[in-house]
Amino acid sequence: MRKYTIAGNWKMNGSKSSVTTLINSIKNGITETNNITWVVFPPYPFLEQVEHLLTNSKILWGAQNLSEHKAGAFTGEISAEMIKDFGCSYVLVGHSERRQLYGETDNIIAAKFVAAINANLIPILCIGETLQEREQGLTKKIVDRQLDAILKLSEGIKLFNNAIIAYEPVWAIGTGITATPEQAQEIHAHIRLQLAKYDGSIAKQTQILYGGSVKPDNAKSLFKMADIDGGLVGGASLKAQDFLDIGRACNN
Ligand code: PGA
Repeated sequence: MRKYTIAGNWKMNGSKSSVTTLINSIKNGITETNNITWVVFPPYPFLEQVEHLLTNSKILWGAQNLSEHKAGAFTGEISAEMIKDFGCSYVLVGHSERRQLYGETDNIIAAKFVAAINANLIPILCIGETLQEREQGLTKKIVDRQLDAILKLSEGIKLFNNAIIAYEPVWAIGTGITATPEQAQEIHAHIRLQLAKYDGSIAKQTQILYGGSVKPDNAKSLFKMADIDGGLVGGASLKAQDFLDIGRACNN
């Protein structure tokens, strides 16, 4: 039986003081932890603070990005080992904002995914189509291409033994437009099928999160779908009450 993961992607938001307030409110509000893994993704400069606030709590944390390189002359980059050093268990890989605004290709993302696994971080691989691609009927082709970048590697499907996938249609991110539960379920089931072509048990155990304008009022209908195992939440994760309510939707 797969658990739910509720992940908060804070993007480039927050300050030292707002981070403390937000973390404390989430920490104090969490009740359900048997069936849900809670993870927050603060910007890099706050990782030490978050580590301090969350060590020995029921909430885990991660970074929003990482370098595909181990160390060296890569000004401005952050390695997997550095992220690990601040207690992170997770890292986002291939978020659509990284793909679209920073030119991250499928191959770069695959290298980052491997760097995360090699450092014992759990990557959350973000995949999803743009509005134009959906309108052209290309959704499945796009997610297949994004998955294949990793599946074609020599370790291939085995890399998903300790990884999460987030299906995030680009047209739903930050727009207030959510995929309907049926639209999301169709693609989640398709993603699972793609994994199952390589390994049935990995396909069955891999968590596939939905992302794109998840809010307290739409979370329940999304999370009750068979192949939706929680959410990668952007905007609503900056409000403690909304984030907690989204988590509560898992068990209702
Ligand atoms: P959103 O962002 O919830 O604000 O749409 C989701 C994401 O980018 O992961």
